[in-house]
Amino acid sequence: MPDNNIKIISAVDSVRGQITLPGDKSMSHRALMFAAIAKGQSKIKHLNIGADALSTIACLQKLGVYFQLGKFTVDVNSPGINKWIQPLDGVLNCGNSGTTVRLISGLLAGRKNLDVTLIGDESLSQRPMKRIIEPLEKMGADISSTDGHLPMRIRGKELVGIQYTLPTASAQVKSCVLFAGLSASGKTFVVENLKSRDHTERMMKMFKIPIFHNKHTISVHTLRRTISGFDYSVPGDPSSAAYWIAAALLLPKSRLLLKKMSMNPSRIAFISLLKSCGADIECFEEDKGLEPVGDIVVKSSKLKGFEIRSKQVPALIDELPLLALIATQAKGESKITGAKELRVKESDRISSTVEMLRAVGADVEELEDGMIIKGDTSLAGGQVDAHGDHRIAMTASIAGLICKHPVKLSGWSSVDISYPTFFEILKRISKK
Ligand code: S3P
Repeated sequence: MPDNNIKIISAVDSVRGQITLPGDKSMSHRALMFAAIAKGQSKIKHLNIGADALSTIACLQKLGVYFQLGKFTVDVNSPGINKWIQPLDGVLNCGNSGTTVRLISGLLAGRKNLDVTLIGDESLSQRPMKRIIEPLEKMGADISSTDGHLPMRIRGKELVGIQYTLPTASAQVKSCVLFAGLSASGKTFVVENLKSRDHTERMMKMFKIPIFHNKHTISVHTLRRTISGFDYSVPGDPSSAAYWIAAALLLPKSRLLLKKMSMNPSRIAFISLLKSCGADIECFEEDKGLEPVGDIVVKSSKLKGFEIRSKQVPALIDELPLLALIATQAKGESKITGAKELRVKESDRISSTVEMLRAVGADVEELEDGMIIKGDTSLAGGQVDAHGDHRIAMTASIAGLICKHPVKLSGWSSVDISYPTFFEILKRISKK
């Protein structure tokens, strides 16, 4: 009997075709949250309909926001953040989603009518929340947690603006403090020494929320006016595109056209890095709006190894497991350091990446804050456990396309977190 929990991914000759990417996950969370802050009707097109975005919808629904979900479109009707209601059981389940819990905490901390306990799945319950509790408490929030982990109870309080320097570059923590700043008295300043993704700031600008940048400092102040409902179309997800880009680069005679991808500079550092290693990737930016968008053409390429240091890590954070796989095929040794943050993602992504690469025959050394990967290695294939982590599952699947023997992947259904149609697309573009 076939084991339904194992997916077998076998080698292919090339990948070819055109792909419409799923909506960007980070922007989908934020668009949903802004639609819930706003009063009235909103329409979000090309929403990422992965499990993480659905967790955000489920939480906001319990706060009294109404959603009607189509295939890739959602209609939202919100009473506005000032009229959010207390959930009957007081519980919001954030599932596997770090972005949901960290961003929504910033919105809840200043809601004096609400007393809510945030929970999550096993993985999310192990991830650090002190990083948001600390700045929110400085603003006057009333939060109790289990040693800095979920469950986390937030009783809405009067907040005051603070100046906060992020100890670790994190768009989730930055966004949490900026969101809390909207209901705090006075000004809130966030200092980020290394730039992380900036979708929250861009969306605030879109809503004409006064937000200012001065070198490394971002400031917001109390939101006094009501935001009205809006229409928004989410650009394609560069972090999802990365898997197809890797497949096309690594397989001979490959060519892929990826449509309408976000070209936000804080998200496409992996493309610049790969180009500097010899990748044949062409970007055709069409719309230079608040979130630039365009098409990408990628072709088979011979690559050389790379070195990634702490300064580059925030802009590459979600692509690092995949870049480590690419490094196994590049010329020479590659090295990733300063990436300790990977240890507190959906899995410990240093250990799960090293385990996965070794399982398929790569030569990788694990470091406390990264890894060293030997290049030019022919991969044999083997059994891989994704550790319930979507990015590990998708990286292992791309590995399967270039391994001599199949990759037998358990935990593959975690791709639903960000890319439910991942295996359909994989099948469609694979040519034997
Ligand atoms: C995200 C920010 C990143 C990223 C995550 C999504 C976001 O996390 O890893 O997948 O939407 O803000 P950190 O900001 O914690 O590094």
